[in-house]
Amino acid sequence: MDDDYYFRLALSRCLESHGYKVECAENAKHAQQLIALSVYSAVISDIQMPELNGLQLLKWINETRPMPVILITGFADLLETQEAYNLGAKAFLPKPFKAEAILEALSACFSGLEPKAKPAHLDSLYCGIPIDDFVSGSQIRYDIHVRLSAEKYLRVAHGGEDISIERIRSYREKGLFFLYLTQEDYRKYIGFNISVAQALTSNALITRDRKIQFLKVASESVLRALYQSEFDENLYRNTCTIVESTLSALSDEPELLHLLTALASHSEPLYAHSVAVSFYSAFIARALHWKNPQNLFKVAAGALFHDIGKKEISPSILKKARSELTIEEVILYESHTGRGTEILAQISSIPTDILQIVHQHHENQNGSGFPSRLRKDKIHPMSRVVCLANEFCKLAMQTSSGPPMTAENAINRILSIGVERFDHDCMKALISLFRYPSNLELFNTLRRKAGAT
Ligand SMILES: [Fe+2]
Repeated sequence: MDDDYYFRLALSRCLESHGYKVECAENAKHAQQLIALSVYSAVISDIQMPELNGLQLLKWINETRPMPVILITGFADLLETQEAYNLGAKAFLPKPFKAEAILEALSACFSGLEPKAKPAHLDSLYCGIPIDDFVSGSQIRYDIHVRLSAEKYLRVAHGGEDISIERIRSYREKGLFFLYLTQEDYRKYIGFNISVAQALTSNALITRDRKIQFLKVASESVLRALYQSEFDENLYRNTCTIVESTLSALSDEPELLHLLTALASHSEPLYAHSVAVSFYSAFIARALHWKNPQNLFKVAAGALFHDIGKKEISPSILKKARSELTIEEVILYESHTGRGTEILAQISSIPTDILQIVHQHHENQNGSGFPSRLRKDKIHPMSRVVCLANEFCKLAMQTSSGPPMTAENAINRILSIGVERFDHDCMKALISLFRYPSNLELFNTLRRKAGAT
């Protein structure tokens, strides 16, 4: 049932040529009349129709003559699609679709075969993009999906389809915050093209899936714990999605997955710290109004791997406070930036920006950092972001050397002891995430003093 005559005609001819008996209705009211008078096995309906739409028809069918309903959807139907899924629509066909797709959907309806086993968890196969990225005008050349549940993603637009910015904006206003690309398309979207044509045995695949699931669950719990009531909730959710999508894209490269699991198995605090630094780096980058998805991916990925060099250093040394280390141990500790860079440089798909982040994440604006004592503009902009996020997380998260500070106190500590160590724009961005008046007041006072001297 569709209000487009030529579409109805083409569809009915296609189905009849495959042995189906078809009756067409030009609108939902007409469909109701036909359904009331005869017995049908299934209904195929468009969502968008004048007067009574496909959703209302689905509700009516559920209440009066329950039978399988297949809905034809377009990018315009994102919100309705979620509702239709909740109402039990049997299948969805994103426009335009091929004859095989409708025949497959019908045959699934009539076979009565519901998946016996619990459907596979699909979250690791898709990556979310904040809907703001679409509003900002990025062009999407890939198929777009909505997440209906962990087991069900639905393609709602084909690559290259014209998407109205106004429509996207209206979705965001109605509470739809993310659209999804397949992992493969996401890697192209962010410009991280890696070869996944690895000859993996089926056993290796199981191991890989388990590893990914473990990393995902562990990172989700870290991200949940980072939430603070002062945050802008949309920005927080967008940032979580950036980190999760970054983790997902990296996990697809066997060598990087190996490194991530090494990080997680070295010690629990190291992985939690890495995820937290990734989150705050992306958070600060967002507050700096960075919107380019490639840059957000690089900063989140670089932050995730910033301490990968520590995997070669004993946890007993890493547990010690800096003041407790011997000179040899300090040298060993400070080597983690170089070790990390060397480890990642062996993987050809890693962009040089990420190598720079790992190498420079302890460099300070005033030249007091390590390993190269770089100053100001010599430090990569992404490294400046990760450097501050790293310091903040060290203070505001639980460590072996003591309980965490509140975010407000952590920022004030950073300002008091290191206002000349960190990039001022990054500090302002961090302060803006929490909006504590005491932080802004101290920041302005210190800047005035620095300006006066
Ligand atoms: Fe570090």
